[in-house]
Amino acid sequence: MIKNICCIGAGYVGGPTMAVIAQKCPHIKVTVVDLNEERINSWNSEDENELPVYEPGLAAVVKEARGRNLFFSTAVDQAIDDAEMIFISVNTPTKTYGVGKGMAADLKYIELCARQIARVAKSDKIVVEKSTLPVRTASAIKDILTNTGNGVQFQILSNPEFLAEGTAVADLFQPDRVLIGGDTTPEGQKAIQALVDIYANWVPQDKILTTNVWSSELSKLTANAFLAQRVSSINAMSELCEQTGADVNEVAKAIGLDSRIGPKFLKASVGFGGSCFQKDILNLVYIAKSYGLHEVADYWEQVIIMNDHQKRRFAKNIIKTLYNTVSGKKIAFLGWAFKKDTNDTRESAAIYIANDLISEQASIAVFDPKVEEKQILKDLNALETRSAETNQKGIQTFQNSYDACEKAHAIAVLTEWDEFKTYDWQKIYDNMLKPAFIFDGRNLLDKNKLEEIGFVYQAIGS
Ligand code: NAD
Ligand code: UDX
Repeated sequence: MIKNICCIGAGYVGGPTMAVIAQKCPHIKVTVVDLNEERINSWNSEDENELPVYEPGLAAVVKEARGRNLFFSTAVDQAIDDAEMIFISVNTPTKTYGVGKGMAADLKYIELCARQIARVAKSDKIVVEKSTLPVRTASAIKDILTNTGNGVQFQILSNPEFLAEGTAVADLFQPDRVLIGGDTTPEGQKAIQALVDIYANWVPQDKILTTNVWSSELSKLTANAFLAQRVSSINAMSELCEQTGADVNEVAKAIGLDSRIGPKFLKASVGFGGSCFQKDILNLVYIAKSYGLHEVADYWEQVIIMNDHQKRRFAKNIIKTLYNTVSGKKIAFLGWAFKKDTNDTRESAAIYIANDLISEQASIAVFDPKVEEKQILKDLNALETRSAETNQKGIQTFQNSYDACEKAHAIAVLTEWDEFKTYDWQKIYDNMLKPAFIFDGRNLLDKNKLEEIGFVYQAIGS
């Protein structure tokens, strides 16, 4: 039975997943390691607001297990050496250079981990791919691990993570399924069983699915592609709704009642964000192309094209509605995170909308309950559209929505934070310039109530 686990990568996946394993398995020592010392210090902070990842319920889980059987550390070699099972949970971003630039997953961090494990390991280990990886990565990891010449035996498992941010703890406590892929050899099956036994501490056996490694790796990319495709599909219909008098919320409800379609993931929006959907689909497209499957590649690429279009047309509509100019106009952004209940801003639609509007010389005023100014500027600067100084002049961050909206020409709702629904909208209206516009990129607010107050309200898809 496994008694000692190490996880390389203390990010949005490594942190919460390991915290939950540690909480549910007090008999297993779990050490989460990262090269980023600041991140590790934050995980070790006594102040729950300092944790590097905001997720409802996470602070309590960390508090219960940390120091008991959950440890956060920068001593990577030591943790690898001690562990019987090593999860690799490092980032696998889209490549920004060389062959596959802008499409393929950059696997340099994965390879570094494999080489470090190969160098340090003195006893047999089970290596678990927790990161999302292109299909067949396990064979590259295996190559690196088996050519060390020090006689240590490795088993490679694929165990992709399906948690969504904002609901990570609930998703980890009660996953729809846990997927574990491994070799069909007896040693492979033994390794699979060792990981099954860990999850079986809280996940019902019938929800633990075992497959071969390649099916497991590819299922993760497939799941994200299907999910993102649903959002792009409903967003495509939202534009048609706007032209025809149909209401996308009504259409979504009508089709969602068909049990073959189902009601989830049909919320029209300003466009999907997050660190996974775009990256994983681009990766899928790249893989398909590399096998010469151009129709497959084009099919999935359309999901991204539609999403980019949805973001761009939201910004364009703001400009058009504000009499074709936003130059010098204050536009308040409610929300910067890519969805509610997370402090994560990666690929958030807000970044792209802000970028487009700043190019038109708008003055953006942001309020997000969990995102700080430093992050907002970092996100904008990463686009490299203009200098950091110009970005700084184009955007201001506020500690509350009322100040952000004061004297604004328009409000754009970009994240569906619950608190936005309960604001004193009359007060906000009174302090805005007139006509007071609201562009609700999340179809979150009450149209009738806002129109009664006097707002000019526009939603997505109606
Ligand atoms: P992240 O960027 O939040 O965390 C990755 C961490 O790995 C960073 O803290 C980084 O410093 C660390 N790291 C990188 N190389 C390292 C090395 N050689 N040694 C030690 N630490 C190293 O990323 P994330 O969001 O947690 O995603 C991790 C993986 O999980 C990705 O492959 C992603 O696609 C996948 N995934 C993410 C989500 C999600 O919701 N974020 C969900 C499912 C799967
Ligand atoms: C996603 C997958 O859901 C998860 O299984 C995987 O492990 C990681 O990637 P995440 O990106 O954290 O999770 O959040 P998700 O809830 O999937 O939302 C992604 C984006 O799509 C968000 O910007 C969200 O606002 C948007 N979205 C989602 C919609 O616009 N409409 C919807 O109906 C659903």
